[in-house]
Amino acid sequence: MADLENDIAKILITREQLTTRISELGQMISRDYAGKDLFLVCVLKGGVVFLSDLVRAIHIPHAFDFMAISSYGGTHTESSGVVRILMDLNASIEGRNVLIVEDIVDTGRTLAYITENLRTRNPASLKICALLNKPSRREVPVTLDYVGFDIPNEFVVGYGLDYNELYRNLPFVGVLKPEMYTGAHSETPTT
Ligand code: PRP
Repeated sequence: MADLENDIAKILITREQLTTRISELGQMISRDYAGKDLFLVCVLKGGVVFLSDLVRAIHIPHAFDFMAISSYGGTHTESSGVVRILMDLNASIEGRNVLIVEDIVDTGRTLAYITENLRTRNPASLKICALLNKPSRREVPVTLDYVGFDIPNEFVVGYGLDYNELYRNLPFVGVLKPEMYTGAHSETPTT
């Protein structure tokens, strides 16, 4: 872990801040969905670390499942805005109260696609819980029902977020040192 932490310019959200905020989100969700059939949909891969802590902060019965979405046509760090489903839900969400769990909302294109897709499956309700929100990057309007933190337009990694698939295991959200992605063969990340 020490090697990975050397690549971080600064910690944006500490482990303690994450724990506190996720506990608050869990309490809000538990209150809002009490007595309802709650079904969480986690968007892989980044959302999985957030989901694993969030579900333990939700104190009402609920189920969860995963979707994997891919953008294509662009580079691996910058979305073309076109997405497709790589892995779909196993169960029907018809009549259920669906809460999408995302690690970060950037342009909004991923969530716009997912919400449009899931809405056609006739859930009783469809809401969004995002740990991180970068409002300054928005290209497509999305309504976020639960937000952990609004963050500035900096490239963040950790707590599920990656650069080239690394850093997801850091227990905090940090800003990657620019020299980690400004090599001759690297692309400038955006999310
Ligand atoms: C990230 C994140 C969101 C999406 C947000 O996923 O998890 O799904 O980008 O960006 P947008 O608002 O501009 O659509 P990424 O494509 O990096 O995949 P990963 O979760 O597997 O790392």
